[in-house]
Amino acid sequence: MEFIKVTEQKEPFVALIELNRPKELNALNRQLMEEVRDALQQLDKNDLVRVIIITGNEQAFAAGADIKQMADKTAIDMLMIDQFSTWDQIRKTKKPIIAAVSGFALGGGCEFVMTCDMVIASETAKFGQPEIKIGTIPGAGGTQRLTKAIGKAKAMELILTGRFLSAEEAFFYRLVNKVVPKEMYLYEAFQLAKEIAQLSPVAVQLAKESINRSFETHLDEGLTLERKNFYLTFASEDQKEGMKAFVEKRKPDFKGK
Ligand code: HXC
Repeated sequence: MEFIKVTEQKEPFVALIELNRPKELNALNRQLMEEVRDALQQLDKNDLVRVIIITGNEQAFAAGADIKQMADKTAIDMLMIDQFSTWDQIRKTKKPIIAAVSGFALGGGCEFVMTCDMVIASETAKFGQPEIKIGTIPGAGGTQRLTKAIGKAKAMELILTGRFLSAEEAFFYRLVNKVVPKEMYLYEAFQLAKEIAQLSPVAVQLAKESINRSFETHLDEGLTLERKNFYLTFASEDQKEGMKAFVEKRKPDFKGK
């Protein structure tokens, strides 16, 4: 594992996955997501684990998908790479996953948080879907899960402007379960995990599956449309300009082409 650290049984029946690309603010390249997928599949089979916590570091949970890895890809490259099959497998994890978030949770980072089941945030956490600023749109469920979580008007505002939500706002809009001081977010995630880990793993798993089913039938259709539209942005000059501008650290000049 190059980009994540996995600690089993830090507490009884609780495993911790730490995203570990600190210099890049934990930008989610494909290998990192594959490592997370592999770790979750192992932990799902491990009887000594009942609850999984995923975290980043104090500065960032994750600042999005790795823009440098995507910048020059065509729409067909993106379709054929099919990175979201990894995300689909992550979504199939049976045990509950708690995201413990401090700092940036942006783009794919925010989508990753929303793929988890519960969220404990440090008061420094910032959530957003800023893809629009680099000429693309969310591709890993943001248009679907954010809308479901915080409602249409606010989701529109965030996704169409790229604005961020503070931790306090994220709590107000029900994106996160609890906000705590930054020294406490991991501790608080463990408290929640330990409480769940004492209960019947069978009942917990069935409850998770049932809650997710409340929107998953619509989710599948929504994810398919979002994915195609995300790929379609890679056929535009604006996506090339937007991502190139990020890499070159300048403001993009969008032409609508
Ligand atoms: C690649 C990234 C990155 C990213 C940050 N870095 N975010 N590299 N992909 N998403 C790198 C920077 O290039 C820089 O490396 C280092 O991390 C530190 O970032 P800075 O920008 O210098 O830090 P700061 O000025 O503090 O600004 C923090 C920030 C900014 C506001 C979070 O980094 C930012 O805007 N990042 C991009 C956020 C974003 O657009 N996310 C959505 C991505 S698209 P160097 O080597 O240059 O110093 C997406 C699609 C999802 O997620 C669908 C598919 C899953």
